[in-house]
Amino acid sequence: MLRPPPPTAIPAPARPELPWHIGIIMDGNGRWARQRHLPRVAGHRAGVRAIRQVMEACNDAGVHILTLYAFSTENWQRPRGEVSSLMRLFQETMDSEVDELDAKGIQLRIIGDRTKLSSRLRQKVDECEARTAHNRANVLNVAINYGGRSELVEAIRELAASGVDLRHLDEATLSAALYTSGLPDPDLIIRTAGELRVSNFLLWQGAYAELHVTDTLWPDFGPTDVAAALGDFGSRRRTFGQVTDPPRAGDDAAAGTRTG
Ligand code: FPP
Repeated sequence: MLRPPPPTAIPAPARPELPWHIGIIMDGNGRWARQRHLPRVAGHRAGVRAIRQVMEACNDAGVHILTLYAFSTENWQRPRGEVSSLMRLFQETMDSEVDELDAKGIQLRIIGDRTKLSSRLRQKVDECEARTAHNRANVLNVAINYGGRSELVEAIRELAASGVDLRHLDEATLSAALYTSGLPDPDLIIRTAGELRVSNFLLWQGAYAELHVTDTLWPDFGPTDVAAALGDFGSRRRTFGQVTDPPRAGDDAAAGTRTG
Protein backbone atom coordinates (compact mmCIF):
# COMPACT_ATOMS: atom_id res chain seq x y z
CA MET A 1 0.00 0.00 0.00
CA LEU A 2 1.78 3.15 -1.19
CA ARG A 3 0.93 5.94 1.20
CA PRO A 4 1.32 9.70 1.05
CA PRO A 5 4.17 11.05 3.17
CA PRO A 6 3.24 11.31 6.85
CA PRO A 7 1.72 14.70 7.66
CA THR A 8 4.37 17.26 8.60
CA ALA A 9 2.07 18.98 11.05
CA ILE A 10 -1.53 18.65 12.08
CA PRO A 11 -3.05 22.12 12.00
CA ALA A 12 -5.65 22.63 14.72
CA PRO A 13 -8.98 24.36 14.03
CA ALA A 14 -9.23 28.04 14.95
CA ARG A 15 -11.88 27.32 17.61
CA PRO A 16 -12.70 24.13 19.51
CA GLU A 17 -16.31 24.06 18.24
CA LEU A 18 -15.10 23.77 14.64
CA PRO A 19 -14.43 20.43 12.98
CA TRP A 20 -10.76 19.57 12.96
CA HIS A 21 -11.07 17.59 9.75
CA ILE A 22 -13.81 17.72 7.09
CA GLY A 23 -14.38 15.01 4.48
CA ILE A 24 -16.39 15.88 1.39
CA ILE A 25 -18.19 13.58 -1.05
CA MET A 26 -18.30 15.86 -4.07
CA ASP A 27 -21.38 14.69 -5.95
CA GLY A 28 -23.58 16.19 -8.66
CA ASN A 29 -21.11 17.26 -11.33
CA GLY A 30 -22.94 15.20 -13.97
CA ARG A 31 -26.34 16.65 -13.03
CA TRP A 32 -24.91 20.17 -13.04
CA ALA A 33 -23.63 19.61 -16.60
CA ARG A 34 -26.87 17.97 -17.77
CA GLN A 35 -28.92 20.94 -16.52
CA ARG A 36 -26.80 23.12 -18.82
CA HIS A 37 -26.76 20.69 -21.78
CA LEU A 38 -23.00 20.36 -21.38
CA PRO A 39 -20.84 17.21 -21.45
CA ARG A 40 -20.20 15.60 -18.06
CA VAL A 41 -16.57 16.65 -18.12
CA ALA A 42 -17.72 20.30 -18.04
CA GLY A 43 -19.33 19.44 -14.69
CA HIS A 44 -16.05 18.01 -13.42
CA ARG A 45 -14.19 21.13 -14.56
CA ALA A 46 -16.70 23.29 -12.74
CA GLY A 47 -16.16 20.95 -9.77
CA VAL A 48 -12.48 21.84 -9.71
CA ARG A 49 -13.39 25.55 -9.55
CA ALA A 50 -15.64 24.80 -6.57
CA ILE A 51 -12.75 23.09 -4.77
CA ARG A 52 -10.71 26.26 -4.78
CA GLN A 53 -13.56 28.31 -3.27
CA VAL A 54 -14.34 25.69 -0.65
CA MET A 55 -10.71 25.41 0.42
CA GLU A 56 -10.55 29.17 0.84
CA ALA A 57 -13.81 29.28 2.79
CA CYS A 58 -12.65 26.47 5.10
CA ASN A 59 -9.31 28.14 5.67
CA ASP A 60 -10.99 31.51 6.36
CA ALA A 61 -13.36 29.83 8.82
CA GLY A 62 -10.41 28.18 10.59
CA VAL A 63 -10.71 24.58 9.37
CA HIS A 64 -7.40 23.33 8.07
CA ILE A 65 -7.75 19.64 7.19
CA LEU A 66 -9.87 18.61 4.21
CA THR A 67 -10.31 15.26 2.47
CA LEU A 68 -12.01 15.33 -0.93
CA TYR A 69 -13.44 12.22 -2.59
CA ALA A 70 -12.44 12.70 -6.21
CA PHE A 71 -12.46 9.18 -7.67
CA SER A 72 -13.61 5.97 -6.07
CA THR A 73 -12.48 2.41 -6.73
CA GLU A 74 -15.91 1.96 -8.36
CA ASN A 75 -15.57 4.97 -10.68
CA TRP A 76 -13.45 2.93 -13.15
CA GLN A 77 -16.76 1.49 -14.31
CA ARG A 78 -17.79 4.84 -15.81
CA PRO A 79 -17.55 5.29 -19.60
CA ARG A 80 -13.93 5.10 -20.72
CA GLY A 81 -13.97 8.66 -22.06
CA GLU A 82 -15.16 10.08 -18.74
CA VAL A 83 -12.50 8.14 -16.81
CA SER A 84 -9.71 9.39 -19.06
CA SER A 85 -11.05 12.97 -18.88
CA LEU A 86 -11.02 12.76 -15.10
CA MET A 87 -7.47 11.38 -15.03
CA ARG A 88 -6.37 14.20 -17.34
CA LEU A 89 -8.12 16.71 -15.13
CA PHE A 90 -6.29 15.41 -12.03
CA GLN A 91 -2.97 15.71 -13.83
CA GLU A 92 -3.72 19.19 -15.25
CA THR A 93 -5.04 20.48 -11.95
CA MET A 94 -2.02 19.30 -10.01
CA ASP A 95 0.21 20.89 -12.66
CA SER A 96 -1.58 24.22 -12.62
CA GLU A 97 -2.25 24.46 -8.87
CA VAL A 98 0.86 23.11 -7.18
CA ASP A 99 2.66 26.47 -7.06
CA GLU A 100 -0.29 28.16 -5.43
CA LEU A 101 -0.90 25.29 -3.02
CA ASP A 102 2.71 25.51 -1.95
CA ALA A 103 2.63 29.31 -1.67
CA LYS A 104 -0.42 29.03 0.60
CA GLY A 105 1.25 26.51 2.88
CA ILE A 106 -0.99 23.61 1.85
CA GLN A 107 0.28 20.04 2.17
CA LEU A 108 -1.20 17.96 -0.66
CA ARG A 109 -1.63 14.24 -0.03
CA ILE A 110 -3.16 11.77 -2.45
CA ILE A 111 -4.89 8.88 -0.73
CA GLY A 112 -6.02 5.70 -2.48
CA ASP A 113 -4.47 2.87 -4.42
CA ARG A 114 -2.08 4.74 -6.67
CA THR A 115 -0.62 1.57 -8.19
CA LYS A 116 -3.57 1.59 -10.63
CA LEU A 117 -2.84 5.13 -11.84
CA SER A 118 -0.78 5.73 -14.97
CA SER A 119 2.93 6.08 -14.33
CA ARG A 120 2.73 9.70 -15.53
CA LEU A 121 0.02 10.57 -13.03
CA ARG A 122 1.84 8.70 -10.26
CA GLN A 123 4.95 10.68 -10.99
CA LYS A 124 2.97 13.93 -10.80
CA VAL A 125 1.45 12.83 -7.49
CA ASP A 126 4.90 12.04 -6.08
CA GLU A 127 6.27 15.39 -7.27
CA CYS A 128 3.39 17.43 -5.81
CA GLU A 129 3.48 15.60 -2.51
CA ALA A 130 7.25 16.05 -2.20
CA ARG A 131 6.97 19.71 -3.16
CA THR A 132 4.32 20.50 -0.53
CA ALA A 133 5.32 18.03 2.20
CA HIS A 134 6.95 20.70 4.37
CA ASN A 135 3.81 22.89 4.52
CA ARG A 136 2.04 23.33 7.83
CA ALA A 137 -0.92 25.66 7.37
CA ASN A 138 -3.41 23.23 5.79
CA VAL A 139 -3.64 19.58 4.82
CA LEU A 140 -5.51 18.67 1.63
CA ASN A 141 -6.08 14.96 1.05
CA VAL A 142 -7.45 14.09 -2.36
CA ALA A 143 -8.86 10.58 -2.61
CA ILE A 144 -8.16 9.08 -6.03
CA ASN A 145 -8.91 5.41 -6.68
CA TYR A 146 -9.95 5.31 -3.04
CA GLY A 147 -12.31 2.83 -1.42
CA GLY A 148 -12.76 2.40 2.31
CA ARG A 149 -13.14 -1.38 2.06
CA SER A 150 -10.03 -1.90 -0.03
CA GLU A 151 -8.09 0.45 2.25
CA LEU A 152 -8.95 -1.77 5.22
CA VAL A 153 -8.19 -5.02 3.40
CA GLU A 154 -4.85 -3.71 2.15
CA ALA A 155 -3.88 -2.37 5.57
CA ILE A 156 -4.65 -5.70 7.26
CA ARG A 157 -2.76 -7.65 4.58
CA GLU A 158 0.25 -5.41 5.07
CA LEU A 159 0.16 -5.73 8.82
CA ALA A 160 0.01 -9.52 8.49
CA ALA A 161 2.88 -9.51 6.00
CA SER A 162 4.98 -7.36 8.30
CA GLY A 163 4.64 -9.94 11.05
CA VAL A 164 1.97 -8.27 13.23
CA ASP A 165 0.06 -10.94 15.12
CA LEU A 166 -3.50 -10.27 13.91
CA ARG A 167 -4.96 -12.06 16.92
CA HIS A 168 -3.81 -9.05 18.96
CA LEU A 169 -4.58 -6.36 16.38
CA ASP A 170 -5.92 -3.21 18.04
CA GLU A 171 -7.65 -0.11 16.71
CA ALA A 172 -4.62 2.18 17.03
CA THR A 173 -2.44 -0.21 15.01
CA LEU A 174 -5.02 -0.51 12.26
CA SER A 175 -5.62 3.27 12.17
CA ALA A 176 -1.89 3.83 11.79
CA ALA A 177 -1.81 1.50 8.77
CA LEU A 178 -4.43 3.49 6.83
CA TYR A 179 -3.75 6.24 4.29
CA THR A 180 -4.82 8.83 6.85
CA SER A 181 -2.23 7.69 9.38
CA GLY A 182 -1.26 10.51 11.71
CA LEU A 183 -4.34 12.64 10.97
CA PRO A 184 -7.38 13.08 13.20
CA ASP A 185 -10.54 11.32 12.02
CA PRO A 186 -13.01 13.52 10.16
CA ASP A 187 -15.47 15.21 12.52
CA LEU A 188 -17.76 16.21 9.68
CA ILE A 189 -18.55 14.54 6.36
CA ILE A 190 -20.39 16.67 3.82
CA ARG A 191 -22.18 15.14 0.86
CA THR A 192 -23.51 17.29 -1.95
CA ALA A 193 -26.33 16.52 -4.42
CA GLY A 194 -28.66 14.97 -1.91
CA GLU A 195 -27.85 11.24 -1.80
CA LEU A 196 -28.00 9.75 1.68
CA ARG A 197 -25.06 7.35 1.40
CA VAL A 198 -21.42 7.18 2.48
CA SER A 199 -20.36 5.38 -0.73
CA ASN A 200 -17.27 3.61 0.63
CA PHE A 201 -15.71 6.89 1.85
CA LEU A 202 -13.55 6.88 5.01
CA LEU A 203 -15.49 3.92 6.42
CA TRP A 204 -13.21 3.43 9.41
CA GLN A 205 -12.20 7.03 10.00
CA GLY A 206 -15.77 8.35 9.70
CA ALA A 207 -17.18 6.09 12.41
CA TYR A 208 -18.24 9.08 14.53
CA ALA A 209 -18.33 11.82 11.90
CA GLU A 210 -21.37 14.07 11.82
CA LEU A 211 -23.07 13.94 8.41
CA HIS A 212 -24.26 17.02 6.54
CA VAL A 213 -26.11 16.37 3.28
CA THR A 214 -27.19 19.18 1.00
CA ASP A 215 -29.11 19.17 -2.29
CA THR A 216 -26.66 21.70 -3.71
CA LEU A 217 -24.72 20.19 -6.61
CA TRP A 218 -20.96 20.18 -6.08
CA PRO A 219 -20.09 22.82 -8.73
CA ASP A 220 -22.54 25.21 -7.02
CA PHE A 221 -21.22 24.52 -3.52
CA GLY A 222 -19.51 27.64 -2.23
CA PRO A 223 -18.69 29.73 0.83
CA THR A 224 -22.35 30.10 1.91
CA ASP A 225 -22.75 26.32 1.85
CA VAL A 226 -19.54 25.90 3.86
CA ALA A 227 -20.93 28.33 6.45
CA ALA A 228 -24.23 26.39 6.55
CA ALA A 229 -22.39 23.08 7.04
CA LEU A 230 -20.27 24.53 9.84
CA GLY A 231 -23.38 26.01 11.48
CA ASP A 232 -25.10 22.62 11.27
CA PHE A 233 -22.03 20.92 12.77
CA GLY A 234 -21.92 23.47 15.58
CA SER A 235 -25.51 22.67 16.51
CA ARG A 236 -24.87 18.91 16.94
CA ARG A 237 -24.45 17.33 20.33
CA ARG A 238 -21.69 14.77 19.91
CA THR A 239 -21.83 11.95 22.40
CA PHE A 240 -19.61 9.32 20.73
CA GLY A 241 -22.09 6.69 21.85
CA GLN A 242 -22.03 7.73 25.48
CA VAL A 243 -24.92 8.80 27.68
CA THR A 244 -24.16 12.31 28.83
CA ASP A 245 -27.41 13.17 30.68
CA PRO A 246 -27.20 12.88 34.46
CA PRO A 247 -28.66 9.53 35.57
CA ARG A 248 -32.34 9.58 36.56
CA ALA A 249 -34.32 7.31 38.86
CA GLY A 250 -34.77 3.95 37.15
CA ASP A 251 -31.68 4.31 34.93
CA ASP A 252 -29.01 1.68 35.24
CA ALA A 253 -26.35 3.00 37.68
CA ALA A 254 -23.64 2.65 35.00
CA ALA A 255 -25.67 4.49 32.31
CA GLY A 256 -23.54 7.62 32.51
CA THR A 257 -20.51 5.78 31.21
CA ARG A 258 -22.05 3.26 28.83
CA THR A 259 -20.82 3.31 25.26
CA GLY A 260 -22.59 2.00 22.20
C1 FPP B 1 -19.32 13.05 -8.70
O1 FPP B 1 -20.25 13.66 -9.55
C2 FPP B 1 -17.99 13.57 -8.99
C3 FPP B 1 -16.92 12.82 -9.38
C4 FPP B 1 -16.95 11.36 -9.53
C5 FPP B 1 -15.63 13.44 -9.71
C6 FPP B 1 -15.22 14.53 -8.79
C7 FPP B 1 -14.00 15.14 -9.32
C8 FPP B 1 -13.77 16.45 -9.34
C9 FPP B 1 -14.63 17.49 -8.78
C10 FPP B 1 -12.48 16.89 -9.94
C11 FPP B 1 -11.49 16.88 -8.82
C12 FPP B 1 -10.18 17.24 -9.29
C13 FPP B 1 -9.12 17.31 -8.48
C14 FPP B 1 -7.79 17.62 -9.03
C15 FPP B 1 -9.21 17.08 -7.03
P1 FPP B 1 -21.04 12.73 -10.57
O2 FPP B 1 -20.29 12.72 -11.86
O3 FPP B 1 -21.26 11.39 -9.95
O4 FPP B 1 -22.37 13.52 -10.69
P2 FPP B 1 -23.83 12.93 -10.95
O5 FPP B 1 -24.15 12.02 -9.80
O6 FPP B 1 -24.68 14.16 -10.97
O7 FPP B 1 -23.79 12.21 -12.28
